Amino acid sequence: MFTRVNKNNAKFVSISLDNQTVKVRKGLTVAAALLEANIGHFRQTPVSGKPRAPFCMMGVCFDCLVVIDGMANQQSCLIEVCEGMRIERQIGPADIIPEKPEDQGTKP
Ligand code: FES
Repeated sequence: MFTRVNKNNAKFVSISLDNQTVKVRKGLTVAAALLEANIGHFRQTPVSGKPRAPFCMMGVCFDCLVVIDGMANQQSCLIEVCEGMRIERQIGPADIIPEKPEDQGTKP
């Protein structure tokens, strides 16, 4: 349906998704890069646990939320990939304030 122009001039960066290294095209958004790498879903809804993937690709639907470098609720369709970026699927509700390493395991 769509064809990428300048396919042979592409540069790549390494990112990780859930601790798996993925080589993606430099200059893409995180959402576009993961979709191009055939990643099927990016998050699960907090209520039903249903899988979600990017829908609008322009910052409106919030179905592309992921955790990037430890920061939850990042709209992957608006953020460009960069070398070494650590991405995790967002499962369920995200903490509003990330848990500090020294507090881990102390919550009931
Ligand atoms: S895909 Fe809709 S906000 Fe990112």
